Amino acid sequence: PGRDRPRIDGHTLLAGVIGWPVAHSRSPLMHNWWLAQCGVNGAYVPLPVAPDQFDTAVRGLQAAGFRGVNVTIPHKESAYRIVDRLHRSAQRSGSVNTLVFSSDGRIEGYSTDGDGFVANVEAHGVAVKGGSALLLGAGGAARAIAASLLDRGVRVVVANRTRARADALAASLAGVEAIDWAQAGSALPGCTMLVNTTSIGMEGAAQVQFPFDLAQADPELVVCDIVYVPRQTALLKWAAANGLRTVDGLGMLIHQAGLGFEKWFGVAPGIGPDVEALLDADL
Ligand code: ATR
Repeated sequence: PGRDRPRIDGHTLLAGVIGWPVAHSRSPLMHNWWLAQCGVNGAYVPLPVAPDQFDTAVRGLQAAGFRGVNVTIPHKESAYRIVDRLHRSAQRSGSVNTLVFSSDGRIEGYSTDGDGFVANVEAHGVAVKGGSALLLGAGGAARAIAASLLDRGVRVVVANRTRARADALAASLAGVEAIDWAQAGSALPGCTMLVNTTSIGMEGAAQVQFPFDLAQADPELVVCDIVYVPRQTALLKWAAANGLRTVDGLGMLIHQAGLGFEKWFGVAPGIGPDVEALLDADL
């Protein structure tokens, strides 16, 4: 018995995801599949941790020899606070989604969302460097993506329904230009990428909620959504119907996870259609 099960023994490398709730997370599926693929003796587990138990849990996991953890809702602010060393990605994005327990006893904090976004878009054959992007939304995901795009010399314009949040994002990242939500349509011509980080289009018809008309868009525009349930969001359907290239959010989830995997387990996992199919079947 157990021939196909991972071997758990004294050498098993441990990682996981801390959330509350966390049962819905696809991360264990993805990481354990990669561990098997890469022949790494490791395990990745869901870790349901109540908000007031975050610090206790993290210290405990560190003491128990975990390599690190992903951190998801509602612990992102606590994660930012608990780290001893904030990686540049975490500083720039103002958030931490990946903790690494280093061999010298420190807790290192990374944000892999922005670089995961860029890696995914590039994996779709899109030339990111030197382009210009219109970002919709000004939450945590928008800031992480803006930071990674700026690092690649991309001009970044942010439009948000609540203008003050776009201004705050621009104030925290030199190089970002904030505009009114209603101005998004006039900012679109000349952009190489349109990136939706808002929740618009997660269900139902949504194009009326966007302040632009994709029928008028430059045919070279690449339209990206970070939402992956459903994979074909209203925005992506609208873009595809107008002959525009689209990039959905599932690949970003996979690429950002791959960056964490590499830090904990020392191997870059294979990112291809098979892992995408694995997750797609689970959506
Ligand atoms: P995250 O941190 O995951 O990016 P968030 O902080 O909840 O998410 O941000 C959600 C984004 O979606 C915000 O930019 C929000 O706009 P506001 O700042 O004005 O709230 C945007 N958003 C959500 N629903 C929207 C809608 N119907 N129209 C326009 N923007 C919307």
